[in-house]
Amino acid sequence: MIPSIEWTVDNKVKMIDQTLLPHKLEFLEFDDFRGVANSIKVMNIRGAPAIGVAAAMGMALATIEYKDLPKENFLKKIENAADIIRSTRPTASNLFWAVNRILKVINSFPDNPLNISELVIEEAKLMAQEDINVNKNIGKNGAALLQDGDTVLTHCNAGSLATVQYGTALAPIRSAIEMGKSINVIADETRPRLQGARLTAYELQYDKIPVKVISDTSSGLLMRLGKIDKVIVGTDRVTSDAVFNKIGTYLVALAAFDNKIPFYVAAPTSTLSLQETIEDVTIEQRDSSEVGNVLGKVQIVPNGVECLNYAFDITPFRLVSGVITEDGVFTHEELLKKYKG
Ligand code: MRU
Repeated sequence: MIPSIEWTVDNKVKMIDQTLLPHKLEFLEFDDFRGVANSIKVMNIRGAPAIGVAAAMGMALATIEYKDLPKENFLKKIENAADIIRSTRPTASNLFWAVNRILKVINSFPDNPLNISELVIEEAKLMAQEDINVNKNIGKNGAALLQDGDTVLTHCNAGSLATVQYGTALAPIRSAIEMGKSINVIADETRPRLQGARLTAYELQYDKIPVKVISDTSSGLLMRLGKIDKVIVGTDRVTSDAVFNKIGTYLVALAAFDNKIPFYVAAPTSTLSLQETIEDVTIEQRDSSEVGNVLGKVQIVPNGVECLNYAFDITPFRLVSGVITEDGVFTHEELLKKYKG
């Protein structure tokens, strides 16, 4: 897949408009951080690592916009831009991680804003490159868990489109295939935004990786019928006691546990937030119309009926067989030992 987001030579942020997939592959370009913030909010770009990089690039645009201001005003404006970007979506830790990383660069150089802007652009570009490298390592570590002939179930889209490139949950699949293994993918459709049906199926087909889409309610039956060997999902935030990922992940994990099927979570370390517990995390609630209408087009509930639209799920660690990071594969206990510090 082509990169989901990049910094252009003329200092713009270019991204795939994921709301148009799978029907159209079109790009958006922004030279204003407000536009980038809005693209995260309305999900032109989505997926925890991708929105992290978008946030960093949005911050870089803000430094360009304000670079001619005196330092004190510059810093005030930058804090305001950071607040706007941070307020777009509440659950994925990468968004906050990325904004903080950029703020650290800004605050650690008591230089003039003109120079800071150059440094921040370089940092944002570096974060995009790091994302790809991290995903490739997740791929190598996770590929060792997959056997030739495996069918892997995934939920939502934690692929190339959810990152800069290569993906997290789809990385072990890509890597195993590159090693010559034959792997089939089953993608949950992922109501209500249909990231599995629209995006996972799109990018796997694009890369000629065999994929079939199922309705969200089918995975338990398929596991019982022996049609799924492993589950790999991505994550938006890992706290010390749970994994946060797209709504529906918990039910998949329960079904996998009941059917003794390994359930793995692919997590770049930028997604780890192990100082936190479940209570610290805000689960995003999106507009109820996303549930009541199929992709904003066909209304499926009677007029006046409200729908609940929690966007993320909480999966306790007792259901997780292992967490695949860029450093290796870890049990819950090992993960805390390695990264909690
Ligand atoms: O609402 P989305 O599409 O941003 O949700 C994305 C997910 O839940 C992904 O599984 C998660 O961000 C991991 S992406 C590598």
